[in-house]
Amino acid sequence: MNNFIQARSEEIKYHESFYTENDLFEPGTWLAKPVKVVLEMLELLNLNRIRVLDLGCGVGRNSIPIAQILKNHNGTITCIDLIPTAIDILVENSKKYDVDNQILPEVADAESFSILPNEFDYIVSCSCLEHVSSVEAFRKVVKRMIDGTKERGINTILMSTEIEEIDIETGKISEGLIELNLKTEEAFSYLQELYKDWEILIERNLPQALNEVKYGKEIEFRSNWITFVARRKGGIS
Ligand SMILES: C[S@@+](CC[C@H](N)C(=O)[O-])C[C@H]1O[C@@H](n2cnc3c(N)ncnc32)[C@H](O)[C@@H]1O
Repeated sequence: MNNFIQARSEEIKYHESFYTENDLFEPGTWLAKPVKVVLEMLELLNLNRIRVLDLGCGVGRNSIPIAQILKNHNGTITCIDLIPTAIDILVENSKKYDVDNQILPEVADAESFSILPNEFDYIVSCSCLEHVSSVEAFRKVVKRMIDGTKERGINTILMSTEIEEIDIETGKISEGLIELNLKTEEAFSYLQELYKDWEILIERNLPQALNEVKYGKEIEFRSNWITFVARRKGGIS
């Protein structure tokens, strides 16, 4: 099996069982709370009738809190994920948290999802771009995000780079099985080039480690977690 197919199939297996076994906002899991910077950047935008896109939304860790904020402003959030189970659970969560009118769910691959020019005020991609098939695909998706953002709109990208997996039982370290394992500097340099006409608001990376069960084994997933936030120039600042 080629690397992409194997990585994609493991990703789907992992997320399907994780989402089925853990509730949204369950303490002690990575679903416990939204990613702070994702909500903080929303504060910089005019919320009136705001249009948000969450690429690789999962079961709504960020989308549901965003939708709760948008509710008072007639805004909507388009939520896409590759996995139908994730979208089914997201829909249940949107009803549970009474934000089903704000959430526009869709099963789609970020790699082929089309975005209209100037469609969104805010685009979030949290742990999604490391799951596309190639550097070329990565650049294409980011270009679509760029073209799809209105003047003064914001893109927030969080992704893992330089991924390694450590077998907890044997201690063996191997390169992470992931669709796109970029070096941290490489990811930043693509993003800097693609967003060269934008104002870069945040650019940082932090080492992170997370225990997961994958391939039927306990593994530690180590990576550099990058945060890249940029704002499109134009309009009245
Ligand atoms: C680690 S989870 C993060 C989910 C959510 N963004 C969050 O922060 O809670 C990654 C999600 O991206 C989805 N995903 C992976 N590759 C994708 C792709 N090519 N297109 C759309 N979604 C994808 C997975 O199904 C999974 O739900």
